[in-house]
Amino acid sequence: MPMLELESVVASYIPGVDILRGVSLRVEQGEIVCLVGPNGAGKSTVLRAISGFLKPTVGQIMFRGKSIGGMAPEQILMEGITHVPQGHSVFPKMTVYENLLMGAFTVKDTALVAQRLERVYSLFSWLKERSREKAGNLSGGQQKVLEIGRALMLEPPLMILDEPSLGLAPKTMASLFETIRELNAGGLTILMVEQNAREGLASAHRGYVLELGKEKFEGTAKELLESPEMAKLYLGGSTDEGSYRRRSKKAVPTIV
Ligand SMILES: Nc1ncnc2c1ncn2[C@@H]1O[C@H](COP(=O)(O)OP(=O)(O)O)[C@@H](O)[C@H]1O
Ligand SMILES: [Mg+2]
Repeated sequence: MPMLELESVVASYIPGVDILRGVSLRVEQGEIVCLVGPNGAGKSTVLRAISGFLKPTVGQIMFRGKSIGGMAPEQILMEGITHVPQGHSVFPKMTVYENLLMGAFTVKDTALVAQRLERVYSLFSWLKERSREKAGNLSGGQQKVLEIGRALMLEPPLMILDEPSLGLAPKTMASLFETIRELNAGGLTILMVEQNAREGLASAHRGYVLELGKEKFEGTAKELLESPEMAKLYLGGSTDEGSYRRRSKKAVPTIV
């Protein structure tokens, strides 16, 4: 059983105007799955449907065998899915420490909160060093790590990340993806949306291309990265001819 499974999900913001038009995808436990596709394809909308901000009108969303489609966002959070949205969502006037505590506002057990805080500090020691600083003073990349740290305060089995690398310089982006891979190696399952498709897929196990509210391709990250069609349409046009020639016969994304 996949950890998360969307089956033919239809959803809209305005009645009658479907943005998701029957999306099916799955995330297995332990995976990093990367969702790519053009602007406006509905990638953020998929994540909003998963975290309960938008209710599917048709289709099913299953999380660890339980139907969560239509549950309230707080309930879905309690089920174990945390959503790190697109853009900046730190509280800039609060300290790093206060921001982290906000991530655990639903946890009443203070000893547990303290324990989780120490775990986040052990993962990112600089957050501890800068715990008393205003979050607004951190760089863009550091704020994103703080947002991820805040989401970790719930020890979620699944984290969904919407364009975590947006606006980051290439070096910062590389280190953020490294952080994401490390968290995954530590057991966190991740579904992320990335506009930087090549970099996002390079850090993922599998990927989906979403277009006009429907998944168009799916495959292992390697398959998607080595597909000439993907390169032409979604990876900024640059191809790696060498790897295309070398690729095995089965390295073709499944058209769905
Ligand atoms: N709150 C909203 N109300 C109405 N339409 C929206 C809203 N948010 C997004 N949309 C529309 O839904 C479509 C998909 O948007 P989105 O999921 O943000 O795309 P992506 O993340 O792939 O760029 C776009 O046409 C967008 O204009
Ligand atoms: Mg988006």
